[in-house]
Amino acid sequence: RDIRIIGMPVDLGQSKRGVDMGPAALRYAGLAAKLEGLGHRVCDSGNLEVAVRETVAAEAEQHYLPSVAEACRLTYGAARRAVAANETPLFLGGDHSLAIGSIGGVTHEAPRGVLWIDAHADFNTPETTLSGNIHGMALAALLGEGYPELTAIGRPGPLLKPEDVVLIGIRDLDSGERERLRASGVTIYTMRDIDERGIGAVLREALDRLEHHDSLHVSLDMDCIDPQDGPGVGTPSPGGLTCREAQLAMEIIADCGCCRSMDIVEINPILDRHNRTAQLAAELAASLFGKRIL
Ligand code: ARG
Ligand code: MN
Ligand code: MN
Ligand code: MN
Repeated sequence: RDIRIIGMPVDLGQSKRGVDMGPAALRYAGLAAKLEGLGHRVCDSGNLEVAVRETVAAEAEQHYLPSVAEACRLTYGAARRAVAANETPLFLGGDHSLAIGSIGGVTHEAPRGVLWIDAHADFNTPETTLSGNIHGMALAALLGEGYPELTAIGRPGPLLKPEDVVLIGIRDLDSGERERLRASGVTIYTMRDIDERGIGAVLREALDRLEHHDSLHVSLDMDCIDPQDGPGVGTPSPGGLTCREAQLAMEIIADCGCCRSMDIVEINPILDRHNRTAQLAAELAASLFGKRIL
């Protein structure tokens, strides 16, 4: 594979400081070397540009919507170019709002299946959100709902269809968000499903659901991990995936051989201990891109 690393240090989609350092934390964790060690060609484009919070204080009241939309447009372009060059783009966040651009861009020419691995569904609209934070609206925007500034990014119409998306690891929904999600037709595997059936069975069924696609995008929000194993995130949620469950999930996706793009988002090294969360994320990416124990 030709893996293209693209940093997008956006922190404007949420309220805590430090998630803009996620790309650096992942690079310090040795992400590129781990992937090269597996035989991939890795090219790091550095970071895309996004407004620094202090320079756009006037947008605070709108939850930085104009600057988040601009960041997503840039991300969309980078994603589209990588796919056109037959590369596998790996987006380093930054908060999860960047996925509007990354997933939008990688699906510009042809649809792909999306595995959205997260404690949250990011399925809020301006009507249902309690926080106002745009990272909590990213998946809704991809399905064409919410702020017109976000749903107009890249190309007209919804960027994803409900049958293209499977959610995994869900355990924290806002009440209006839950109603929207249930009505949406998106496939959802909550932590209860994983506890009852095991991560292996759930992942295999999730991949079956996306069988009509020959390419997959994995959007990995590191708050899917239990805070014990991944404390460095802005919106931690107890009762999450262990590092072993997450590893197995990545290995099973790797076995299908169809992951052609990925986001690693929400790592906040300021809230972490010794960069553990980025180190785990780098290991997970290695497993997703083919690392085997034996
Ligand atoms: N549901 C909450 C909100 O909308 C939390 C969202 C967390 N999203 C994330 N990408 N970590 O504010
Ligand atoms: Mn998320
Ligand atoms: Mn999340
Ligand atoms: Mn508000």
